[in-house]
Amino acid sequence: MIQNIQYNDVVEVWAKHQEAAKKILKPSCHVCKVCDGRACAGHLTNILEFGGKGNNGGFINSVERLAAIKIHMDCIHEEYDPDPSIDLFGHRFSLPVFASPIGTILTEHPIDSPFFNANAAYATALVDGCCQAGAMAWVGDNKRPGFFEDQIKPIMDRGGIGVPTIKPWTDRSRYWQKLDAAKKAKTMAIATDVDAIGLGYQYAGTSDPPVSTRSLDELKEIVKRAECPFIVKGIMSCGAAVKAAQSGAYGIVISNHGGNIIESSPAPCDMVESIRKAVGDSVKIFVDGGVRSGEDVFKLLALGADAVGIGRPYVQALYGGGAYGVYIYTLKIYWELVLMMRLTNCRSIADITRDKVHIEETAKR
Ligand SMILES: Cc1cc2nc3c(=O)[nH]c(=O)nc-3n(C[C@H](O)[C@H](O)[C@H](O)COP(=O)(O)O)c2cc1C
Repeated sequence: MIQNIQYNDVVEVWAKHQEAAKKILKPSCHVCKVCDGRACAGHLTNILEFGGKGNNGGFINSVERLAAIKIHMDCIHEEYDPDPSIDLFGHRFSLPVFASPIGTILTEHPIDSPFFNANAAYATALVDGCCQAGAMAWVGDNKRPGFFEDQIKPIMDRGGIGVPTIKPWTDRSRYWQKLDAAKKAKTMAIATDVDAIGLGYQYAGTSDPPVSTRSLDELKEIVKRAECPFIVKGIMSCGAAVKAAQSGAYGIVISNHGGNIIESSPAPCDMVESIRKAVGDSVKIFVDGGVRSGEDVFKLLALGADAVGIGRPYVQALYGGGAYGVYIYTLKIYWELVLMMRLTNCRSIADITRDKVHIEETAKR
C-alpha cells in the first residue's frame, strides 16, 4: 500500500477528478457531491445507466439508512496508528474495501472517454488502481463476446488479486466456460450475482442469452467445481443467506445491486445484523449499496460485515482520473476509515464492534 498522499491532498485531487468525471459522464450521471440517487431518479433509461430501478427507491434508501447509523466517539486513549488491514483469500489487504463489479454502463449518450466501451482498458485501470491502494477490484460480466476475458486478464496479470462475478447464465455450458476461464486465470475467488435475474434487460426470454435462477443443489455443484472461495452476490434475506451458507459458499454479498432490482428493497445495511445472526461465522459477509465514505465502511463493519464494496463512485473515479483516480478514491476511503478508528478507540478492524454505533430509526422509509 502506497499511502504517501495525506487526506487533505487526497480530497483535493478527488474533487478535481469529480469535476472531470462530471464533464465526461453528463447527462448519464451528474457526479453529485455525494452519489445518493436523487438527481438521477426517474430517468427514462435509468435502469440501464447509473440510476436504480423505478424512481431509485432502493438506491436512495440504501444511502439514507446508512446515514441513520451514528458513530460513538471515544478520544480518551493512548496514541496509536490504527491498522485497518485484513486477511482475505490468503492475501493481506490494506483496507476491508473492494470496488464492486460494474459490468456495463448502457447509455443512450455516447461518453467521450478512452474507457467507454473499452472493456479491457476499464478493467485494467480499475484492478490496477485498487491494487496500488492495497484494495481489490471485483469485475463484472455481460453477454458481449470477449467481455469476460477482458475483465479477468488484469486480475491474472496482478497475480490473481481480484474477483470476477459471473452472471447466472441460463446456458449452463456458458456458465461453466466462464468459471473455467476464471479458474485458469487463478483469480483469488469467484462470485456470481444470483440477483441478476431481476435486471430488466436480462429477463429469461427477452434477451439472448438469458440468465436464470440457481437451485441449492446447483449452487453446491458450483462451489465444488470452483475449487477456490466462491461467493454468492445478491443476498437480501436470511433465508437466502442460510441457503448460500448451506451450499458451502465461502461468502455472500448482502447487496440489492445498487437498487437496480427491486425499488422497494430494504437497505443492505439493515440486513447485516439479522443475516449475521442467521449464518453465524459460517460464511464471510460482504456488503455493498450506498457506501460513500470511510465512515460508512466503519458502520457496516460494526454491524458485522467482513468487508465492504463500493460501486458507482468507482465509476466516477475511473472516468475522472483513470487508474490514478481509482487509487486516490481508495485512499480517501482508507484515510476516512483510519480517522474513524482513531476517534473511536479502535486499533484494528476487530475492535470495530457493535457498541461503536447506534441506529436512529427516524429515517426509515
Ligand atoms: C451501472 C451498473 C452496473 C452494474 N453491473 C454489475 C455487474 O455486472 N455484476 C454485479 O454483480 N453487479 C453489478 N452492479 C451492482 C454493483 O456491483 C453493486 O452491487 C452496486 O452498484 C452497489 O451500490 P452503489 O453503486 O450504491 O455503491 C452494477 C451496478 C451499476 C450501477
